[in-house]
Amino acid sequence: MVTIIDGKALGQKMQGKLAKKVKDLKREFGIVPGLAVILVGDNPASQVYVRNKEKSAIAAGFKSETVRLSESICQEELIAIIHQFNQDESIHGILVQLPLPSHINDKKIILEIDPKKDVDGFHPMNTGHLWSGRPLMVPCTPAGIMEMFSDYGIDLEGKHAVIIGRSNIVGKPMAQLLLDKNATVTLTHSRTRHLAEFARQADILIVAIGQGHFVTEEFVKEGAVVIDVGMNRDDNGKLIGDVAFEQVSQKASYITPVPGGVGPMTITMLLEQTYQSALRSVSK
Ligand code: GUN
Repeated sequence: MVTIIDGKALGQKMQGKLAKKVKDLKREFGIVPGLAVILVGDNPASQVYVRNKEKSAIAAGFKSETVRLSESICQEELIAIIHQFNQDESIHGILVQLPLPSHINDKKIILEIDPKKDVDGFHPMNTGHLWSGRPLMVPCTPAGIMEMFSDYGIDLEGKHAVIIGRSNIVGKPMAQLLLDKNATVTLTHSRTRHLAEFARQADILIVAIGQGHFVTEEFVKEGAVVIDVGMNRDDNGKLIGDVAFEQVSQKASYITPVPGGVGPMTITMLLEQTYQSALRSVSK
């Protein structure tokens, strides 16, 4: 029988604990963790994510500041706003929602975020910490997936983990986190030849390729753990994952649904890392 990994329930449980820690931090040190989110343009998916982040931050007792900027803003103006948040002592985490409009260079923008406030873990300084085995700020989606493995007692030691998708947001940091837990990792992507053959060797299959229902049952070994990072819309506008859930759940031992799987865990880790950053600011 397959177990459906309930990211919504786990996220709520963790956010409930976090809300208590936020109260303690306020009582002991008089500070409230502050999260600044910057959204450029009106990408509908980004608007939904940002609204959800804002709601969860407020529910857990955080200070939440969201700046919504026009698509036509220039790079220098955006950088000036980031610098303001870098200086602002009431802000412990800064997130610039991606993707950015094409006239803005996202790599340059990420470099402007103070690495101590880079709760997305995208700054090269934090990437370096992660790859040298001293993680500080870790990209939230892979960090949330690691929490799921831990909560469901899924052992990674010596297992073959196959990742589909090599982004800086998910695939690459996921590989490093799995290596840290002694998994053997194969990182595949859209140009990989014989992709299904690699996927079929996976004990743990993590799919972040951004194509609705891309992974069908031929990609999956009997008993594999399948983690679906996809967020796509079908022709009717319904939210669907990268994995064909109905057929793959017949073969998998564990599987995450979309929605209610990985998504809520990403937000939970964002709040957790903002809290940790606030805690570091008083325990220097
Ligand atoms: N766009 C999609 N996922 C993410 C994320 O985790 N962080 C940011 N900043 N943008 C995203």
